[in-house]
Amino acid sequence: MNNLNRKKVNSIGVFDSGVGGVGVVKELKHVLPNENFIYFGDSLHAPYGEKTPEQVFELVHSVVKHLLDQNVKAIVIACNTATSVAAERLRNMYPDIPIIGMEPAIKKGISSEKRNRVLVMATPVTLNLEKYRRLQQRLDPYADFLAVKCPGLAKRIEQANLDGEDLKEMLRRFLDPYKGTIDCVVLGCTHYPFVKKHIQEILGDIPLIDGGKGTARQLKRVLESKDLLNDQTCEGTIDFQSSTKTEEELAIYRYLYDLYEV
Ligand code: DGL
Repeated sequence: MNNLNRKKVNSIGVFDSGVGGVGVVKELKHVLPNENFIYFGDSLHAPYGEKTPEQVFELVHSVVKHLLDQNVKAIVIACNTATSVAAERLRNMYPDIPIIGMEPAIKKGISSEKRNRVLVMATPVTLNLEKYRRLQQRLDPYADFLAVKCPGLAKRIEQANLDGEDLKEMLRRFLDPYKGTIDCVVLGCTHYPFVKKHIQEILGDIPLIDGGKGTARQLKRVLESKDLLNDQTCEGTIDFQSSTKTEEELAIYRYLYDLYEV
């Protein structure tokens, strides 16, 4: 097998601080059904969004090294927090490996018909960093963005019992003040799509926007441009891995993967 072929058949590494990226990997698999994926959840260290940027960088870097050791042909950072902190630095450190990141999809909240009020839910780290401020500033002329930091939410979603009253109560605390005044919500953390139903129960039937599908399209474009698409015709695989190294955690990933609707 020549080097090029070997690379095409290699897996794509996808990771998040924990369960959030499980939904993203389902979006990726939907668009690229013949690819093989390794999904790594760093649930042992979740949440990333309430650590210092340097702590997040160290954790992310060790996950990336773990994926590179398994010979992945591309890496998807299925985490807005990790992308904000680390994507640029990692691309400089590993220029030969395509690295696809995620950021809050706030551009999709803009409407051509009227000036929208867009609620942006994300982790404290994502919203505190200069990268987000610059992104919002560029789009400020077209919509009103209201950024809501949601400390504790990703950690609670990690537990996976998504119908708990405490979780609904936490969401009401974050969202009640905006009831009836918002046109759409951007889910700027990959954990949050798992609680879409509860968010709509509070804010009404308004559009909820996330970056999963856009990331899948971007990954496909990048692989195409580098001639790295797997040309096998059989269905690809997903190898779930977790830093907790427990079967219980992997069972949670599989459960949430099945639950997630593409
Ligand atoms: N899922 C992650 C994100 O997209 C982070 C959650 C966390 O670990 O705080 O931001």
